[in-house]
Amino acid sequence: MTVPDYVRHGLADSPETAIEDVPVTGVLPEWLEGSLLRNGPGSFQVGEQRYRHWFDGLAMLHRFTFAGGKVSYANRFLETRAYAAARDEGRIAYSEFATDPCRSLFARAMAVFDPQVTDSAKVNIARIADRFLALAETPIQVRFDPETLETVGVTRWDRSDFGRMTTVHPQIDDSRQEAINLVTRFGASSTYVLRHVDTSDPDHPRARDLATKRVGEPSYIHSFGMSERYLIVVEYPLVVNPLSLLLWLKPYIENFRWKPELGARFHVFDRETGARVRSVTTEAFFGFHHVNAFDDGGDVVVDIVGYDDASVIEAFYLHRLEEPDSSIPAGTLRRFRVPLVDSGDSPVEVETLSETPIELPSLDYARMNTRPDHHCVYGVSLTGERGFYDQLVKIDTRSRETSMWKEGGCYPGEGVFVGRPGRDAEDDGVVLSVVLEGARGTSFLLVLDAQTFTEVARAQLPHPVLLGYHGQFFGDVGTSAASVPPDQV
Ligand code: CO
Repeated sequence: MTVPDYVRHGLADSPETAIEDVPVTGVLPEWLEGSLLRNGPGSFQVGEQRYRHWFDGLAMLHRFTFAGGKVSYANRFLETRAYAAARDEGRIAYSEFATDPCRSLFARAMAVFDPQVTDSAKVNIARIADRFLALAETPIQVRFDPETLETVGVTRWDRSDFGRMTTVHPQIDDSRQEAINLVTRFGASSTYVLRHVDTSDPDHPRARDLATKRVGEPSYIHSFGMSERYLIVVEYPLVVNPLSLLLWLKPYIENFRWKPELGARFHVFDRETGARVRSVTTEAFFGFHHVNAFDDGGDVVVDIVGYDDASVIEAFYLHRLEEPDSSIPAGTLRRFRVPLVDSGDSPVEVETLSETPIELPSLDYARMNTRPDHHCVYGVSLTGERGFYDQLVKIDTRSRETSMWKEGGCYPGEGVFVGRPGRDAEDDGVVLSVVLEGARGTSFLLVLDAQTFTEVARAQLPHPVLLGYHGQFFGDVGTSAASVPPDQV
């Protein structure tokens, strides 16, 4: 069996390295200064053991810095307990999304009291109260230095790391000096909690429960929405009996069951008071990523990359991706209009904004999140029925036009928009994407003009960057994370 090249090079191992002057072809915009910080798996192999799923693996940070017309690059494994066990003992010692350590029956019984959930925070990056954080779905968030990529310490969204999961997509509003994330507390009585962090004093960020909602069988929720006035939590019918998580007899995600008869439930909370304004059920669907949400009269409009079911999670098992004819279910950009006043028969209206497959959606978040005039969405996409994400796409939700970028044998990662300073047009800027070249086993950083969606430059690396998830661009990483004392956010 021939293993597809995106698996051979993109789901393998990558070396720790630093390159001062990465060869660039094309012309970089003069205004492009700052660092693209990305997170993702750096290795799927530990000794003789291999992780089982794309969402497993050892966390590796990447930094591409644009300065003085040059590009430098560095990467580094996150120095976590999971990484130390892998490096020093050659074993997988902690539970990941879909991989558990090998355990004896006795150890399994002990796992009830201590599931040893991973601290390998590999999914996203955020800057909250001047702290650069590597984020995972466990509440353990790892602080790092954005220049050296060195691990600084551990921060938590919630007091205890037992029986709690969170999202890697906190909503951050610098104008209101706040960050909000969804935490699920599992137990005999489980609860969704919207945790609010007041960042007005960066030295002493203050966290509190803004809103809570009890739930019998919690849903797997990867992100949530925020409009000017509301927070929107969508409960997909991929749910878990908390008892099975307490027993932890199988990897985390395999405890969840698809129950389409439950439908999908939209819960809308007031951002100021935390009061639940509306809960409404609609047809079953699944999603990882909210894109944007905005208020429109008596409705809140919520854009999500949606799937008809949760089979996309199974498609990301490595043994599935290794199949020569593997395929990934295509998510589409869907708009849900949720009426806030219950007038009896006011259902959620659903509209597919584009039939073009899209995942890892992004926007000009700092400027356009929560705004009704937002209309440019970037993402990865699929050209055909088979294989891995192999093109970048831009969907204009107003004109409904789509633009594509692709190159034979290339697998682009998440597109990160960077706006030109002083811009008027939403898409006046570039989209940055780390692209894996399947045949050569190398990667390059692609710089696309966000308006024309054509290449302006690329910076070529001599090695592969493994297929990753999320990152962010920071014009200024000046605040040294190391100067801020470790604490609990
Ligand atoms: Co995500």
